[in-house]
Amino acid sequence: MKINRVESLIYGVGDMDIGVRYFQDWGLQQKSTSADRSEFGMPSGQTVVLRLATDAALPKSPFGGPTVREVVWGVDTQASLKELHDELKRDREVKVDADGTLHTHDDLGFGIGFRVQNGVAPARTEGARMNKPYDPPRSASPQRMGHVVYSIKRADQQKAADFYMKRLQFRMTDHTEDLGDFMRCNGSNDHHNLFFLKAPDFPAFNHVAFEVRDFDEIIFGGKNMRSKNWKPYAPPGRHILGSNLFWYFNNPCGGQTEYFADMDLMDDNFKTRNWEKTPGYSMWTIDPGDTVVEGGRPPGAPQPAA
Ligand SMILES: [Fe+2]
Repeated sequence: MKINRVESLIYGVGDMDIGVRYFQDWGLQQKSTSADRSEFGMPSGQTVVLRLATDAALPKSPFGGPTVREVVWGVDTQASLKELHDELKRDREVKVDADGTLHTHDDLGFGIGFRVQNGVAPARTEGARMNKPYDPPRSASPQRMGHVVYSIKRADQQKAADFYMKRLQFRMTDHTEDLGDFMRCNGSNDHHNLFFLKAPDFPAFNHVAFEVRDFDEIIFGGKNMRSKNWKPYAPPGRHILGSNLFWYFNNPCGGQTEYFADMDLMDDNFKTRNWEKTPGYSMWTIDPGDTVVEGGRPPGAPQPAA
């Protein structure tokens, strides 16, 4: 059984028009839109779906306001889907859509689904530059979704991770006692596809990250968003855990969205790092007035446990 990636995110939104405008500006491909449902895609075949928060058919949310109501995970084969169905229906209700998508919830009550993945992310190819001066678009075109992040109650860390590790065979990349758990799907090499953040100590959808080509595209994408009056959540920088370049924006559909590039890759040869204290938020950020620790690990930060 292989889970490969986030396949689809289903938001319950308060204002469809604002949500549509946000994801258009973010650079996703609009596939359809109506008063109560809009769908966006990306070259990977993954989708973002906006539905009205009042839609009774949406999974319940353990947190209020516009937010992600369901994360649908993409699996490799129909056989994997059946294996997951058999595993999960042992102790919870699992509904099956007309298109075969499974719908249920994790152990914290977050809505989750599963379906066979539709397509793959296009391979990154370096464009030939001979006699072609560099002139990229001044906006972003995300290729794929990389990861989702939930905030959870501090007391729920073990319970949250156990479900994905033991029932869905996720791998633990970085476990931090004070911050939370970075996990990846067993069919993925991303440093993380799922992060449970133990702040601010209540359950909420935190953010979804979209991969772009490089740092230029993060900056062009973010500047384009800012020019359209969307508000950055944090300045651009490079994280320590995952090592990815990033820029976050506040999403009117709930939580934040992140442009990211150049994340660490892990396979099953990588040994989980266990941190008593997180090594820090970022190696650097652009904003000189920012208060996060810059320049690498803070003095005295613990080394990964052997
Ligand atoms: Fe992220």
